[in-house]
Parts: sequence; structure tokens; C-alpha cells
Amino acid sequence: MKATAKAHTNIALIKYWGKRDQALILPTNNSLSLTLDGFYTTTTVDFHDALTQDVFMLNGQAVTGEAYQRVTKFLDLIRNLSGKTDLYANIGSINEVPTAAGFASSASGFAALAAAGAKAIGLNLSDPELSRLTRQGSGSACRSIYGGFAEWEMGEKEDGTDSYAVPIAPREYWDIRVAAVVLSSTMKKVSSRAGMKRTVETSPFYSGWIDSIPNDLNGIKVGIQEKDFEKVGAISEANCLKMHATTLGANPPFTYWHDTTLRVMHTVQEMRANGIPAYFTIDAGPNVKVLYLPEDEARVEETLRNIAGVTDVRLSKAGPGITYL
Ligand code: ADP
Ligand code: DP6
Ligand code: CO
Repeated sequence: MKATAKAHTNIALIKYWGKRDQALILPTNNSLSLTLDGFYTTTTVDFHDALTQDVFMLNGQAVTGEAYQRVTKFLDLIRNLSGKTDLYANIGSINEVPTAAGFASSASGFAALAAAGAKAIGLNLSDPELSRLTRQGSGSACRSIYGGFAEWEMGEKEDGTDSYAVPIAPREYWDIRVAAVVLSSTMKKVSSRAGMKRTVETSPFYSGWIDSIPNDLNGIKVGIQEKDFEKVGAISEANCLKMHATTLGANPPFTYWHDTTLRVMHTVQEMRANGIPAYFTIDAGPNVKVLYLPEDEARVEETLRNIAGVTDVRLSKAGPGITYL
């Protein structure tokens, strides 16, 4: 009863930022992402009847506390679905992505865990079923079931059965590149989960965020369909800025940005002024992702590497969905 799965992170172009149900992880808005080939997690789940509790090793170290609880609670869902509630597992996971630094480790981490766990226990899930299950580990993870562009449909039902991701376009459809600009790989002070909760509960800007989603979502889908890079980039950048603006209105207020984050943002806008179509987006963390086209790769990389405070630039293409090893 053992399986290994590999899942890639995804970068949200239209952000998921807020839950209407914390326990089931039901979002307040649809979101849309691009899966990345450069960052991923590989997880092995091995169910044993000799074990009396789950054991979770991340990057070779035993995990306890909140991160452990999130994993065992998630395996409970898998145990309940399969009816094998008395089985515990050894879980070994390797993150080829910084953990909890705003590079979406929870997305690749829970997508790999869901796929490996479901397979190991003998569940035979369709992609929508796997996405729906994965959602309950980390919301952004439900989009990492698919390669390329994916949209998480928020759904309407209270039980969450209609809340899962669907594929929008496969990775081969369009060669868009993403530079991950690394300035800090340390764990963020406010997790995505805590940050969005505080924002929903206290930020007066939150309703404006929600009101702006339908337009952004319709626009970006047209942009993807027409392969209109400027349109996709401009909408992504604006959507990211609106999401981060909501955190400044929260109580207590917070921001994920560092000084170098702002420097990278300005440099990207300068590149555009100099005729290179490049656009930024930022998840819940200080690091910046820059969207660009293959023909501009060398100039974009060089420009980003030269920014004071930038420690690394990692280039990604569109990535694949779940694979089993
Ligand atoms: P990130 O920006 O990295 O997604 P989050 O705050 O959303 O940051 O989530 C980080 C949390 O995700 C970690 O503290 C841990 O609980 C969980 N996580 C990260 N990687 C894995 C993994 N490989 N397997 C299981 N859980 C993981
Ligand atoms: C800003 O999926 O990490 O990256 O559902 O609580 O695990 P939980 O949160 P998470 O939130 C991601 C927030 C975001 C935007 C996005 O990825 O859509
Ligand atoms: Co996350």
C-alpha cells in the first residue's frame, strides 16, 4: 500500500484570497493559475497496519506541530473515503521549492500528498475528484492537479462537492515563462491561511477585491484564448496589486512585501517602459514572479539578477500535472 507522486507548484494569476468555509476550504472567489515546471514536491505514502500513528518526514526531518496536524488531518479524509480508518502511514516528502516562503509549497505539497495517499490506499479518483480532495489540504493545491492553466471553480454548494479545479489550457498550448525572483527563502511571519482569514474578517477593502474578480477573470480567459500576452500580464499584475492592497487595510495591518520586493516591481515596470513585455505577480510572501516571453529570456534574467537584494533568479516554463513514479 505504497505510492509516490510528483506535483508542481502553480502561480496564481487571479488570486485565491479568502475562504467562505475554513474547515472545507471553500473560497470566496474563483482563481486561475499557471503550473510551473521549476518547483515541485515528490511525496511517498506507505500505509502499514503495524503503525499506531502517522509519521511525516519533510526533506529528511521529522515534522511535528501544526504542519504535522495538517498532514494527518488530511490523511483522515483519505482514510474515511476508503473506509480503511485503522491504517496509519509513513509519509516522506521532498520539497524542490522553499517551504512556506510564498513559493506555493502548500500547493505542490498537498497535491503530491493527495495523489500518493489516494493511490496508496487504493482509491481510484478522477481528476475532479482528486482536485476536490486536494482542495481540503490547501486551497491553491487543487489547481496543481493539472498542467498549464487551471481554474478553481469556487462552487455554490455548502458541502463543497462543486468546488474543484478544471483545466483551461494544457502546458503545450502557450510557451509563457516565469522567473521566480528570490530575495528571501525564510518562512513568512503570516501564513497564507492566517493572512487571508484576517483580511476577510477585518479589511474594509475586501469587498472591493471581491467585486473586481469577475472582470479580471473574464478578461484573462479572453487573453489566454487569444494568446494576448500584454492582456494576460496586465490583468495578472493588477490582480496581484489588488490582493496585496487588502492586507494593508486589515487589523492589525500587514504586508508580505520587503524593500527588495518593491525594487523588483519597479524594475519590471521599467523593463516595460523600455519595450520588454514583462509583468509581475506575488503570492503570500516577499518573492516576486515575473511573466515574460521566451524571446526576452536573456534580457529579463540579466536585469532581474542585477537588482540589489536579489539572491537568485529561477526560470520556469509551464509545468505538467500530477505524475506517479
Ligand atoms: P507557501 O507559500 O509555501 O504555500 P503556506 O503558508 O501556504 O506557504 O503553506 C506552508 C505550509 O504548507 C507548511 O507550513 C506546511 O504546513 C505545508 N507544506 C509545505 N510543504 C509540504 C509538503 N511537502 N507536504 C505537506 N505539507 C506541506
Ligand atoms: C496568495 O492555498 O496557501 O498564494 O488554502 O489556507 O492552504 P490555504 O492557503 P493557500 O493560499 C494561497 C494564496 C495565494 C493565492 C493563490 O495561490 O491563489
Ligand atoms: Co500556500
